[in-house]
Amino acid sequence: MTAGTTRIHVATRSPYDVVIGTGILDEVAALVGPDAQRVAVVHSERQRPEAGAVGDRLRARGYDVHALEVPDGEVAKSAAVAAACWGELGRRAFTRSDAVVAVGGGATTDLTGFVAGTFLRGIRVVHVPTTLLAMVDAAVGGKTGINTAAGKNLVGCFHEPAGVVCDLTALTTLPPADLVSGLAEVVKCGLIADRSILDLVTTHPRDAVAPASSVLKELVERAVSVKARIVAADLRESLVSGPGIGREALNYGHTLGHAIERVEGYTFRHGAAVSIGMVYAAELASLAGRLDSDTVALHRDLLRSVGLPTSYPAGRWADLREAMRVDKKTRGDRLRFVVLGGVGQPAILDSPVETQLAQAYAAIAS
Ligand SMILES: NC(=O)c1ccc[n+]([C@@H]2O[C@H](COP(=O)([O-])OP(=O)(O)OC[C@H]3O[C@@H](n4cnc5c(N)ncnc54)[C@H](O)[C@@H]3O)[C@@H](O)[C@H]2O)c1
Ligand SMILES: [Zn+2]
Repeated sequence: MTAGTTRIHVATRSPYDVVIGTGILDEVAALVGPDAQRVAVVHSERQRPEAGAVGDRLRARGYDVHALEVPDGEVAKSAAVAAACWGELGRRAFTRSDAVVAVGGGATTDLTGFVAGTFLRGIRVVHVPTTLLAMVDAAVGGKTGINTAAGKNLVGCFHEPAGVVCDLTALTTLPPADLVSGLAEVVKCGLIADRSILDLVTTHPRDAVAPASSVLKELVERAVSVKARIVAADLRESLVSGPGIGREALNYGHTLGHAIERVEGYTFRHGAAVSIGMVYAAELASLAGRLDSDTVALHRDLLRSVGLPTSYPAGRWADLREAMRVDKKTRGDRLRFVVLGGVGQPAILDSPVETQLAQAYAAIAS
């Protein structure tokens, strides 16, 4: 699965491929397809070179290409920026058959997916994620979103991309801390669904964070496959049924993780918060009698081996507990945790015992 270019099929209602490889920007045109005439390439100032390379390739294939520059990072995910994009597409007379391409991290793909999902009630979008997090998570699965003053990702829609191009070359410029943060989602995929990911990280912890390594390529492929399988089985979270817990499994480590991000005023890296959140969920599952201590220890060993945090300062429980109360995933007043019964066995722990919640925190407090 690792040599050359890999295609992972996402068998959702409108199926698409995630193409993974090195130096594969030529793939973008095929995914934009023959029907589009105009293509808007959405990117921030920092991804100008990559977006330029994508634009050149599209122009060479005869498309009428417009660069659409948006603010860098999370501030792009606003109604004002979305409205500016709609305005630009309207002025350029984009039609239902035209397309947009997002080049950047998860903030850019989230915004672009939202713009594409809403303009003319949905036009084609191709994602070219440039961070590890965006490759294995944000660009795959069809969730889009922008923020409002009341919170993150409060407005959005489901809009599947027409394809995703993960050119691993982009990862060579990514700051190491961002690469490591993205790896938390990869480990998450391993814990909820693919033991081979855990074996790869255990055996090659250094290569796992080396941008050009074949180990990282296989990790990206495996994590994308996990997400693809889960979203194909369950496009909309609300339709969870059958034997598994569907898309909610992807939320492993995120209940406490989101609370940490909120308490830290979003200055904490998402993957680092999720890493601590996964150790917390493992401790909680162990206290609830669902998970063995070896698997709890495996969480710590794996995450530490790639440089992710596994503890959080003592004395912050009251704040974290309050932050979890207002998490949008909470149903009514009840807390719901994704926990593991073992590697690859995600399940829901509904309304956990309050004393166990506090005890699990004590187990991760430093
Ligand atoms: N839709 C989903 O299912 C989903 C899932 C997970 C996360 N997300 C969203 O993804 C966003 C986070 O994504 P992110 O971590 O990619 O952050 P980001 O998009 O904010 O990018 C972080 C920074 O990295 C820079 N960058 C991007 N690619 C680079 C590269 N190759 N080299 C150097 N710098 C580069 C960006 O310019 C930016 O400054 C959040 O908004 C989150 O809500 C969405
Ligand atoms: Zn996440």
